[in-house]
Amino acid sequence: MTAIDPHGGTLIHRISEGEERERLLKTADGLPQIAVSRWAISDLDLIGVGAFSPLTGFLNEEDYHSVVQNMRLADGTVWSIPITLSVQEEEAAALSVGGQAALVGEDDGVIYGLLSVESIYRVDQQEEARRVFKTDDPAHPGVRKLSERSSLYVGGPITVLNRPKPERFEEFYFDPAETRRIFEEKGWRTVVGFQTRNPVHRAHEYIQKSAMEIVDALFLNPLVGETKSDDVPADIRMQSYLTLLENYYPENRAFLGVFPAAMRYAGPREAIFHALVRKNYGCTHFIVGRDHAGVGDYYGTYEAQEIFGNFTPEEIGITTLFFEHSFFCQKCGNMATSKTCPHGKEHHLTLSGTKVRALLRDGVCPPPEFTRPEVAQVLINGMSEQVAR
Ligand code: ADX
Repeated sequence: MTAIDPHGGTLIHRISEGEERERLLKTADGLPQIAVSRWAISDLDLIGVGAFSPLTGFLNEEDYHSVVQNMRLADGTVWSIPITLSVQEEEAAALSVGGQAALVGEDDGVIYGLLSVESIYRVDQQEEARRVFKTDDPAHPGVRKLSERSSLYVGGPITVLNRPKPERFEEFYFDPAETRRIFEEKGWRTVVGFQTRNPVHRAHEYIQKSAMEIVDALFLNPLVGETKSDDVPADIRMQSYLTLLENYYPENRAFLGVFPAAMRYAGPREAIFHALVRKNYGCTHFIVGRDHAGVGDYYGTYEAQEIFGNFTPEEIGITTLFFEHSFFCQKCGNMATSKTCPHGKEHHLTLSGTKVRALLRDGVCPPPEFTRPEVAQVLINGMSEQVAR
């Protein structure tokens, strides 16, 4: 069986172990330091394990401009989200191109990795925002995050020396090499990846299961890195996924593993990024539904699907499965989309995220046509515990 190629052809591995790691840790002691946030640590680790293959480090100046302008690395490989490391002026003053820096956790002082400095460059963050997020509105969560960072970036290859420790659900953390091996052991030739930052409601379940009809298995791959504060916290979501899988999915056809990345809310560009990363995890197919990775009204409903039209299928290398907005139709008596249901909107059950959150907060289960009752109960319990904390 031949597994799907990682993006760029090689699964990157830049995690140092054993004696080499000991030696590098000693070297790191004498190097200039760059303080890294939890977000940067998660990017560092994802580069190290190859989830962001073919990236071997934080983007250097040439790749940065190429990604921001053309959604490609300087060598032409498709890459849509700039993975960058921002530094303070004082930190940059101690760095030199050709030298190295130690990446040190800003909260815990742990040396997470080494960076070989290839370029130190200042960027126009407004321009980056307009290109990547299609807006420079500070109310956009991705734009806001960007504007909080220094506009001085450092690029170059990295080596991981310490890996971030998950606080919970450690058993659901798998590196791309592990998921690839697991899919192979299970004999799955085709696996569809599903990105989510939400509990899995019936609409999500419907598109997952529609996809599962044509592939061997589902890789439910929720993003559990940094999200905006009004998204449901990852630990509550994890419990809801486990409950859903236990009750409604065949055990030998669905696999849960987390994606420990930060959410960018970059809509169309993030959809491409999400697809490429899932290819690195060994998925052959990837679901893009309605307003993928969107927020507010910044992106058109199907823009995250249309953007793939800028590239050839070979350049993307993972098969995308596009789904229309799905809902429960009371007349059909099942889940549907405008492609399969002839009835008017008045028969369709659609609830906004805000409305669902309000119901759950009040301890009220949304209708079973919207959310499985077992899942709703987990969310209600989780939210009341959160309030109590
Ligand atoms: S996302 O930010 O991670 O994309 P979410 O968890 O809501 O948000 O979505 C996960 C996936 O399901 C995305 O591909 C999204 O487009 C899709 N999706 C969410 N809701 C619907 C829906 N009602 N109909 C079709 N696709 C949907």
